[in-house]
Amino acid sequence: MTTLSPLFDLGSQPLIDARTELIREVLDGLRSRPRTLKPWILYDDLGSRLFEQITDLPEYYPTRTERSLLSRHANAIVASVTDGSQPLRVVELGAGSASKTCLLLAAATRLHLDVVYMPLDVSGDALDLACTNIQNSFPEVLIEPMVVNYVDSPPQLEEFEGSTLALYLGTSIGNFTPTESRTILRNLGSQLTRQDAFLLGTDLVKDESSLIAAYQDSQGVTAAFNLNILNRLNRELDADFDLSGFRHCARWNSFESRIEMHLESTRSQAIQIPAAGLKLDFRTGETIHTENSYKFTDETIRALLFDSGFAPQMTWKDARQWYALTLSHTCE
Ligand SMILES: C[S@@+](CC[C@H](N)C(=O)[O-])C[C@H]1O[C@@H](n2cnc3c(N)ncnc32)[C@H](O)[C@@H]1O
Repeated sequence: MTTLSPLFDLGSQPLIDARTELIREVLDGLRSRPRTLKPWILYDDLGSRLFEQITDLPEYYPTRTERSLLSRHANAIVASVTDGSQPLRVVELGAGSASKTCLLLAAATRLHLDVVYMPLDVSGDALDLACTNIQNSFPEVLIEPMVVNYVDSPPQLEEFEGSTLALYLGTSIGNFTPTESRTILRNLGSQLTRQDAFLLGTDLVKDESSLIAAYQDSQGVTAAFNLNILNRLNRELDADFDLSGFRHCARWNSFESRIEMHLESTRSQAIQIPAAGLKLDFRTGETIHTENSYKFTDETIRALLFDSGFAPQMTWKDARQWYALTLSHTCE
């Protein structure tokens, strides 16, 4: 459950009522066929911590690759949006622990700018950790966190005297369908001016075995992350999922160009979710689809950005061409 931070005032917009939202999603998703749960539900306190462990796994290349691109290009990224003469606001969708964002904040503070950092995330626990770390490393940065579900409640940014660098890192955009991702980016772009910039991190299509390994690691951390969604329903909605009756699976859907994470019922079983007034019967092999991670090509990145009102200016990739950071400005 999202909690109010004892350290930071998490947001000026109304806090989401996480329990009501969760019940609505559970009713929508678990009564439909195939059964689904929205990926934001993965990120409770434990889920956010498990995701941080995933980012350190040998098989999970996206975080390491993006970090190395950011460390090489942070100065150029910041310079694309400001010459140092005016304040900079860094707005980050789905900031999580914001560990890589520090590279950009370091580049910005080296310019002696007034820097405001605005991390947005559905997980108050992840934001709290991010804010504490950033405050310790960059005491001069003003932090304005916001707990928000940026899909259900598209954030409205206040006007800012200076330029804005918007970030959407960690290939989080890949968790959304092409239609959803365009809606998210259009809302963001509609609030940026031509002097602002937008940096998008995207995981690229590659060989299937590397993709599957990244979502089905040998230590079972991704499995624990995925299964924790059932734990969350047990904890917050008094559900009675027996986690030993489900197994994590990662599948490559080449037609949709996405990795899918599912939880597969290993036996026929009945589950009660009293807080949602639900009783569910699962057959052996029936799945709950919990997450997509779309994989991109140069063409699909450009199409996504153009369709959302952005003009790509610069793309940086690693030597293997496994990951891309694309810097854009708005077209309008
Ligand atoms: C894949 S993680 C990426 C975290 C971080 N940006 C990184 O690069 O490591 C996705 C992050 O987005 C957040 N998130 C997922 N769905 C969200 C939503 N609908 N609204 C707001 N935040 C969301 C999660 O809590 C999580 O912190």
